[in-house]
Amino acid sequence: MGQLIEVQYREIGDVALFDTDRSITGQDSRVYRGPSPNDDPPSTLATRLFRTDGSIDHVHVLSNTVSIRRRGGWDDASLKGARDVIASLFVVYDEDADPYEPLREANYNATIASIRAHNEDLWVMKVMPDEPIEPFDAGQYTTLGLGYWEPRADDAVEDFDDEQRRKMARRSYSVSSSIVDRETGELEPEHPESVEFYIVKVRPDQEEIPALTPRIFTKGEGDRLFMSHKFTGRYTLRGVEPGDKVVFLSTGTGEAPQNAMTAELLRRGHAAPILNLVCVRYNDDLAYIPEQKIVQEKWPNYRYEAITTREPENEGNKVYIQDLVRGGGVEEMLGGRLDPEDTHVFLCGNPAMIGLPKWEEDSPVFPEPVGVCELLHERGFTIDHLKTRGNVHYEEYWKDR
Ligand SMILES: Cc1cc2nc3c(=O)[nH]c(=O)nc-3n(C[C@H](O)[C@H](O)[C@H](O)COP(=O)(O)OP(=O)(O)OC[C@H]3O[C@@H](n4cnc5c(N)ncnc54)[C@H](O)[C@@H]3O)c2cc1C
Ligand SMILES: NC(=O)c1ccc[n+]([C@@H]2O[C@H](COP(=O)([O-])OP(=O)(O)OC[C@H]3O[C@@H](n4cnc5c(N)ncnc54)[C@H](OP(=O)(O)O)[C@@H]3O)[C@@H](O)[C@H]2O)c1
Repeated sequence: MGQLIEVQYREIGDVALFDTDRSITGQDSRVYRGPSPNDDPPSTLATRLFRTDGSIDHVHVLSNTVSIRRRGGWDDASLKGARDVIASLFVVYDEDADPYEPLREANYNATIASIRAHNEDLWVMKVMPDEPIEPFDAGQYTTLGLGYWEPRADDAVEDFDDEQRRKMARRSYSVSSSIVDRETGELEPEHPESVEFYIVKVRPDQEEIPALTPRIFTKGEGDRLFMSHKFTGRYTLRGVEPGDKVVFLSTGTGEAPQNAMTAELLRRGHAAPILNLVCVRYNDDLAYIPEQKIVQEKWPNYRYEAITTREPENEGNKVYIQDLVRGGGVEEMLGGRLDPEDTHVFLCGNPAMIGLPKWEEDSPVFPEPVGVCELLHERGFTIDHLKTRGNVHYEEYWKDR
């Protein structure tokens, strides 16, 4: 049991300075912008600060001064919280000191093996379960979870009682794939050692406070979480014949299962045209561009296309995936007709792009505004429905409000 450090503090805007009664770094200056994999005293301190308060985004340690920047500034509770973390840096806790440690032990069954942060809101994350990975089909999804007790990466305040705080936030995630190794250009194996996910950090808005992604985005490599051992879903390549054209249409991280199925088609030697078209807000919302370039060069029957909607050039000229289906742009990219006789279309992501019908008996009633399902139905395509396996397959990432 080490000694508590004495700490004095003062704040200047978003930054608070904490002076301690002993040096933490010697004369070295150390800067952190997120949890550190190292376990020396300043790194341990920074990691604990980031984990305790999701609004802290910058920690600087120099000798006996710790400067901490906090998005949204400081209040009494956050100042005292950071002071307590610093004061107890050298105190060895027994298990009871962190009331949530037993919950983590009981609920978490996997470890974050790697994170490729394409930007601070978009990650390609690989997860290694404690148990061997059960077989699954390309396109399927599983569940990830973290406790509500974990810190958030944003300032949203959840009005929880202690019972709710001890529960788990669980969400579905498609298994993704980089398709090829960025360095070697080799196809990803069918059974990799860890499971890849492609995740965007959802921001809170007036109507909803997202539960899981703001917590995932406080985590680092080596951290623990829950991953279901069960992979599920009918969004797979079942029914796709070797000569069929395959069209993947997605928004945002809906690219994930499309890439997993692309990798599977290429492993099978699929020679007919494959189009993977994704629609995102900004160019920086695309994390797989280098891999997609390699795939296009190696497999001439594969084409990857991305369109944006919020770049300056899109102003007054916003084009959605539906517009490209309607106007023939998709067929141009595919290099062939959208013919229900020999084409499968996979739709993933934003439910408004998909435009799934409600069913009255066996008749579809399509939503407004028109989504891709209605346009394909008009061309004679069959939408997956109950036991009918059609040639239009879909995965909605959330339900329209
Ligand atoms: C079968 C399935 C597979 C999924 N696979 C992925 C995946 O591979 N990657 C991924 O990032 N998400 C995926 N999702 C969405 C995921 O389950 C979560 O909803 C999402 O990560 C947000 O979780 P949250 O708890 O932070 O917010 P939530 O409370 O779950 O969502 C809040 C709101 O955020 C918006 N939203 C949710 N997901 C997204 C998204 N992916 N992109 C843009 N806006 C979104 C919606 O408006 C939603 O109402 C999938 C969902 C389903 C049903
Ligand atoms: N780049 C960012 O701004 C950014 C960065 C980090 C995190 N986030 C958070 O991530 C979440 C959103 O993620 P996202 O941008 O990946 O997903 P998204 O909101 O589903 O947007 C993906 C693409 O789908 C388009 N789209 C929207 N409505 C459509 C419709 N009816 N039909 C067809 N296409 C449609 C969007 O265009 P529109 O331009 O019309 O919406 C966008 O190009 C939000 O919580 C956001 O706060 C966003």
